[in-house]
Amino acid sequence: MMNSLTDRDRRVIWHPYTQHKGFLPPIPVVKGKDSLLFDDQGNAYIDAVSSWWVTIHGHANPYIAERLYRQALLLEQVIFTGFTHEPAVALAERLLPLLPGPFSRIFYSDNGSTAVEVAIKMAIQFWSNQDRPRQKVLAFRHSYHGDTFGAMSVSERSVFTDPFRDYLFEPVFIDTPTRENIGDLRAFLQRHGRDIAGFIYEPLLQGAGGMRIYEAGLLDQLLTMATGQGILCIADEVMTGFGRTGRLFAGEYLEHKADIICLSKGLTGGTMALGVTATTERIFEAFLSDNKRKTLFHGHSFTANPLACTAALASLDLVQREEFGKNIQRIADRHQAFLGTLRSYPIAGNPRALGTVLAFEINTGADGYINTIGADITREALARGIYLRPLGNTAYFMPPYCITEKEMDQVYDFLVHCLIKFSALPVTS
Ligand SMILES: Cc1ncc(COP(=O)(O)O)c(C=O)c1O
Repeated sequence: MMNSLTDRDRRVIWHPYTQHKGFLPPIPVVKGKDSLLFDDQGNAYIDAVSSWWVTIHGHANPYIAERLYRQALLLEQVIFTGFTHEPAVALAERLLPLLPGPFSRIFYSDNGSTAVEVAIKMAIQFWSNQDRPRQKVLAFRHSYHGDTFGAMSVSERSVFTDPFRDYLFEPVFIDTPTRENIGDLRAFLQRHGRDIAGFIYEPLLQGAGGMRIYEAGLLDQLLTMATGQGILCIADEVMTGFGRTGRLFAGEYLEHKADIICLSKGLTGGTMALGVTATTERIFEAFLSDNKRKTLFHGHSFTANPLACTAALASLDLVQREEFGKNIQRIADRHQAFLGTLRSYPIAGNPRALGTVLAFEINTGADGYINTIGADITREALARGIYLRPLGNTAYFMPPYCITEKEMDQVYDFLVHCLIKFSALPVTS
């Protein structure tokens, strides 16, 4: 089959996060339904990673598709400076009251990284517009905020960012809070806080940095301290938003509310690219001026694309149905129960779960993104009709909320199979 989709792909495509040398041919996916992806041979795969953490209601949702079709016949795209449209305004009106904090303005972009870029720019320019520039941005170690340069700059330095090291701006990195280090972190903020424009964090759960969970109460202490120093708090909820952590937003676990919040991924139910950076009136007002230089000079061709906004509005309809919350709770309960099973395998390091996310390390002695355990697991899972994509030796399971009990069992059984298999192997160092 010289002209299969895979062959055509091999000739013309450069895939993301993919070393093309020695790379296994990608699977031609022809359709999706609920939690399943189907290849051109009719094989089904459970999407156990929600297609890079975006798919919340399942694939090819007919309700969202119908709304998109109707909107596409009406208005598919329009420049968003000098023009406005119903889906953009309606989405802002509908989203703002749902957000965890007193947000009053929505700035649209088109993915998670751009939502973060906008947030960083807002925080820095907030200070420079008031002629009180602050020099630094604060971020957590092990964070991941995206792949554009600003987003990379505030992300943990890693194999992802190594070649660009000299081109990234240097934030102040601190550890995520623990009961042991919280006193030091507070003292650090007390000393250096006045130089810091904004503090960006993934609330409660650091995703690409290894599915690391940390305590809401400790983050609250840090945020309170940061705000006391005038630092603008930027919650990156690109991954945690729309139910992932068990509540609609991770910020709902926190007393202290952010000044800026970044959203994408589940925002459109995972159907279309859209980014939101929401902020408060205080920040918006710092950009109001007769001096044109105080404008936020940022925008993208597809800012507030009417189709993407429509998908988000349709997704919110589904979010507000009773079964949405019930499904999240159902998955969260099952993950919690499965932690007991994981704990009985010493090779499963630090089993943990938050909402619909379950994670653990496979302790074979080799940590890190580059090791091959992840690729081995992905390969074997595919043969069993499951798509999993560990982060190095961190295995995680993050399904669309419509996943069935039977599909969950299949994934849990496979994870147990991996633990038994890896337990039998000699430990490497
Ligand atoms: C917390 C967080 N922020 C930002 C991003 C970047 O989003 P995108 O891939 O849409 O640029 C991601 C992506 O995984 C993320 O997990």
